[in-house]
Amino acid sequence: MPLKHPPAGKLISFEGSEGSGKSTQIARLAKHVQLLGREVLTTREPGGTEIGEQIRNIIVHNSKGDEMCAETELLLFTAARAQLVREVIAPALTRGAIVLSDRFLDSTTVYQGIARNLASDPVNLINQFAVGNVMPHLTVIIDVPTELGLQRIRQRASDLPDRMERENIDFYNKVREGYLLLAKSLPGRFLVIDGSQNEDGVEKDIWSGLQKLLT
Ligand code: TMP
Repeated sequence: MPLKHPPAGKLISFEGSEGSGKSTQIARLAKHVQLLGREVLTTREPGGTEIGEQIRNIIVHNSKGDEMCAETELLLFTAARAQLVREVIAPALTRGAIVLSDRFLDSTTVYQGIARNLASDPVNLINQFAVGNVMPHLTVIIDVPTELGLQRIRQRASDLPDRMERENIDFYNKVREGYLLLAKSLPGRFLVIDGSQNEDGVEKDIWSGLQKLLT
């Protein structure tokens, strides 16, 4: 009898501007994937490892955060990702897990490269160095109009906006446009979902877009 290979692991990243609803949708998708009988692992960026969570604190909650230059920000985000890939994501993929990642290297391309206006060549090089050969099989962009996303984060009952949530609307417009541009330039890897629908509608669109990859 031929040996049965374990199912191949898959990395699916979720991207979008603030208030796009990524975390809600990742939790919903994780339930669908579990029903397929597959191991599912969810991670968040920056963070997802002890070292990564410490880096997250420096980036988001540092009292000197307003003085942080864009280059430092780029290196911190990618450092947290380098750790996450080697400590968590690569071993999970080897086990055959489905990894759902709340942000991955496209966040750096868009936030630091496009919105912070850092040169694309070094950003791409550093991004690639940090992830090695671990690239998403598919990236879901949850696209919401900037105003709607900001309205949603203002309505969250939780604490005060963090450093990355205090940018002006032009910054988030650039983020949104950056994602859409990226999706246009690499249509094979991206699935753009209309995030202005209700949560059930978004869930349905994501699931129908991903079923082929996952089943
Ligand atoms: P979150 O709000 O999805 O937890 O993400 C944290 C913030 O960090 C969000 O404003 C996006 C930003 N970010 C970057 O600017 N570059 C990156 O590489 C990553 C992963 C996040």
